[in-house]
Amino acid sequence: MADSALDVLVICGSLRKASFNAALARALPALGPARLALRYAAPLDNIPPYNADVQDAGNPPAVVALTDAIRSADGLIIVSPEYNWSIPGGLKNAIDWVSRMKDQPFKDKPVALQSAAGGILGGSRMQYHLRQSLTSVDAILFGRPEVIITFAAQKFDEKTLELKDQTAIDMIKLQLAGFERFIRRVSAKG
Ligand SMILES: Cc1cc2nc3c(=O)[nH]c(=O)nc-3n(C[C@H](O)[C@H](O)[C@H](O)COP(=O)(O)O)c2cc1C
Repeated sequence: MADSALDVLVICGSLRKASFNAALARALPALGPARLALRYAAPLDNIPPYNADVQDAGNPPAVVALTDAIRSADGLIIVSPEYNWSIPGGLKNAIDWVSRMKDQPFKDKPVALQSAAGGILGGSRMQYHLRQSLTSVDAILFGRPEVIITFAAQKFDEKTLELKDQTAIDMIKLQLAGFERFIRRVSAKG
């Protein structure tokens, strides 16, 4: 129904306490439309490196929990730094695990991407690699507007980690509003 709230899972690609990406993820509820209900996936650090032998012995609980959380969501927002021009290993590993689960839940799932990174490209190369990997598992990638926060240390308050860059805030508002329309358009939630 057009009036129903959409349930959107936010996944963060950084594990560190003072993460700019985690701070970005925390800022989202205040910037999104009322009918976008955001919830957060557990941090990815309980997911072991992918190994088919481990999987054959039984799926790790953290992978089952993440798979269920993705499956039940109307859409995903992945918020992540860039590591060495690409996807942080922990996040890529989580995607690899979930992709090998029965009836893998990325199929037909709307996904929006955001990144904050220290460099001049703000994690955009990582976003492009995520687009490739997620296309391989039949996710439906939201296009524009993109949320790319360059020189992250200058855009968040040093002490509170509050996002203080108005250009970034405006882009996030536009993206979240566009993502709500996108989910309703590509799924049966319209
Ligand atoms: C292993 C590693 C690789 C990195 N590679 C990049 C990179 O390719 N591009 C970039 O902009 N920043 C890079 N950085 C810097 C991160 O963008 C910066 O540490 C950022 O704050 C990490 O995100 P977080 O604050 O959410 O943890 C790298 C950091 C690490 C630890």
